[in-house]
Amino acid sequence: MADSKRAWSHPLVDIPYTEAQRDELARLERDIRVQLAEKPKRLAHSLSVARCAEWMASIYGADPFEARCSGILHDWCKAWTNDRQIDEAAALGIEMGAPLEKVQPLLHGIIAAKILPERYPELPGSVWQAISRHTTGAADMSALDMVLFVADGIEPLRKPSPGIEEVRAMAGSSPLDEVFKTSFADGIVYVIETRRYLYEGTIDIYNALIEKETA
Ligand SMILES: [Fe+2]
Ligand SMILES: [Fe+2]
Repeated sequence: MADSKRAWSHPLVDIPYTEAQRDELARLERDIRVQLAEKPKRLAHSLSVARCAEWMASIYGADPFEARCSGILHDWCKAWTNDRQIDEAAALGIEMGAPLEKVQPLLHGIIAAKILPERYPELPGSVWQAISRHTTGAADMSALDMVLFVADGIEPLRKPSPGIEEVRAMAGSSPLDEVFKTSFADGIVYVIETRRYLYEGTIDIYNALIEKETA
């Protein structure tokens, strides 16, 4: 039987990156250390998501470099207060079909995907899509989108819950869309159990995922 007290971890993969890719990763890591300097736990989480996403990408056929970049940057806007996230989303014209205050926890990924391409024009759109979707999910998630979404939920520094442990046990062995759907459903359960506002868009995505399954 597995020792439930032993911390979960994943293998560290050694990807043969080009020199340009290694330089880019070093730059992003330097930048996120500055951006999240006042949030050491968030910084550690971001670097951990990056490694976890890189590992999952290497298994599931996504691009490990893009996975690592998206992991490093995904919580960029968590450096800000909740109020600032709402103000920035309003200023950017982000519409969620619900008051921005109610969906505040979902905003930081969407804002980052809008503002960071200007700073990092060398990174592909797939990275920004994954970052945008890491909070909301989508009905048509790419492999990279799913890798970032799941890695965010299970990276080794996250405190385990039964739902997280279930996803960790699947990661790397079950099909990626199954791992994602379990993680996504677990997120909805968490929102309901903690009596938080459940975004209507989340229900639509859930229904679309289920309908695809039964089609
Ligand atoms: Fe996030
Ligand atoms: Fe995160």
